[in-house]
Formats: sequence, C-alpha cells, structure tokens
Amino acid sequence: MKRIYSSHWSDYELIDAGNDKKLERWGNIITIRPDRNAYFSPIKSLKEWKQQAHFEFIEETSSKGTWKTLKQNTPKEWQISYKNCVFNLRLTQFKHLGIFPEQQTNWDFIKSNIKPNEKFLNLFAYTGGASLIANSNKADVFHCDSVKQVITWSKENMESSNQENIHWVFDDALKFATKEVKRGKKYDGIIMDPPAFGLGAKKERWKIETKFPELVKIASELLSHKGFLIINTYSPKLKEDKIFGIIKSYFPNKKIEVSKLSLKTTTGKTLEYGELTRVY
Ligand SMILES: C[S@@+](CC[C@H](N)C(=O)[O-])C[C@H]1O[C@@H](n2cnc3c(N)ncnc32)[C@H](O)[C@@H]1O
Repeated sequence: MKRIYSSHWSDYELIDAGNDKKLERWGNIITIRPDRNAYFSPIKSLKEWKQQAHFEFIEETSSKGTWKTLKQNTPKEWQISYKNCVFNLRLTQFKHLGIFPEQQTNWDFIKSNIKPNEKFLNLFAYTGGASLIANSNKADVFHCDSVKQVITWSKENMESSNQENIHWVFDDALKFATKEVKRGKKYDGIIMDPPAFGLGAKKERWKIETKFPELVKIASELLSHKGFLIINTYSPKLKEDKIFGIIKSYFPNKKIEVSKLSLKTTTGKTLEYGELTRVY
C-alpha cells in the first residue's frame, strides 16, 4: 500500500525507534515512549537513548504509566509550534504529550485545502491540531470531543496561538454529527480521528471496525459537494480494500486515496500509524 509520510519540523523530530519504543525530540526536550509499531531493532542502544533523553515513560498497565525523569530540573510543561500554531505539551499518564506528530501531513493538507469562511469540522478532535491549522486559514471551525479536559487543553492551545473564534463542542462525535445533519448543516472539510476502541454516547463499547460505516455515512451527509474528508483508522481488521469499498459506496464520484500514515526516524526506520483515507 502507498505510504504518506509526515515530516519532522524544527520543533519535532522522531530520532530513532525500535524494540517497541521511540526516541523523540519536542523542541529542546527529548522523550522515550513505548510504541508497539516499533517492532524492529533500533539503530542506537537504549543506553545511548537514555544519555540523550530527559524523560522516559514507564508503562504500568496497557493504557497507563508514569514518567521517569532522566535529567533533573527539566520543566514538565512546555510549548512547541507548527506554522504559527502553538501547542502546550505536558507529560500525561496515558504516555501522550498533547499532539500526535504523525498528523503533520494532514495539517498540511488542511492548510492547502480549506479557505477563509469555509466550514471545517474536527471530530474526535483531541487537543485541536487540525482545528488550529484550519482556524489559521480563517475557516469557520467546529471542534468536537467527548472529554472535557481535552477541550480545555485545546482552548489553551488556541489562546497560546493568538487565535479566537473556534466553536467548542463537548459531545459524542456521532451524536453531534447526527444533530448537524438534522439541522441541514454542510461542511467544506471534515477530519475524523476516532480511537480504535472507545465508548459511545450511551457508554457502550464500540470498535472502529463496526462503527466505520456509520461514520462514513454521516460524513457523506455532512460534506459539501466540493468538500474534502480525512479519516484516520487504526485497526488490523479494517484493511485497505474494506475501507475503500465502504467509502466508495457513499462517495461514488469522489477521488479516494487510502494509504499508510507513516513517519521516518532520523536514523532511517519507518513507523506506520494505521490507515489514512482522503476523499476529495
Ligand atoms: C486519537 S485521539 C485524536 C487525535 C487528533 N487527531 C490529533 O491529532 O490531535 C482521539 C480523541 O477522540 C476523543 N473521543 C473518544 N471517543 C469519543 C466520542 N465518542 N466522541 C467524541 N470524541 C471522542 C478522545 O477524547 C480523544 O481526544
């Protein structure tokens, strides 16, 4: 399958990866985090990584853990930027720092395709990377996430970026999208980054492979005639041909690209982050 690579930028570098971990630089601060996609051997040893890194995430359960400080007096909260958008980073117990750098290629796609006053919808929006980028083009941005703390975090990022006017929607993504369809709303750009596993509106367990057709259907009802849709999925059960077939049935006249979202380490290793689908 075709790969689409996100690039490093001055404030982010994936330095090396391997043995289920990755070494990353965020501004001046370097971290070691677990990553199941790094199933190969790294170029440098863990001992060498630890000499460089400021923090290492120690997994305690499959979803939670703690950060070990490797260099004393390093701040635990700091900022990095991408194209005038400022992100406030912090060390979370879920091993994330506040952005998913593999999304960089989507941010560039949005930057090139959304125009002033067009409507942009970010579903499963997390801390708002795509929202800030669309807002920096003066689009009319709706940002939806079902976790209050990440909406608060996104607002901080908007303020740090000297931006305003993003519409914050604290709701279940499918519930909100369904209400928007009933209201007759249309969007010129939609991005969805649903988790592989999650809780639905009634706290029911759902898996992306079962919810995917419903997400695509709702997007087809919300997307304007000339609009674009981006969907990231992370499930071995949702393969390229299945994704393509479902999307084609709802968007028979649009161009559809399914690729592997990837990042290359400075040491030359490739990490894959699931399927990236663009419809335009
Ligand atoms: C994988 S993250 C998205 C990352 C984002 N693309 C980015 O690069 O910043 C998934 C997000 O979906 C949110 N979420 C999970 N279930 C949801 C639901 N049912 N409705 C809305 N948001 C949900 C989580 O709170 C989380 O912020």
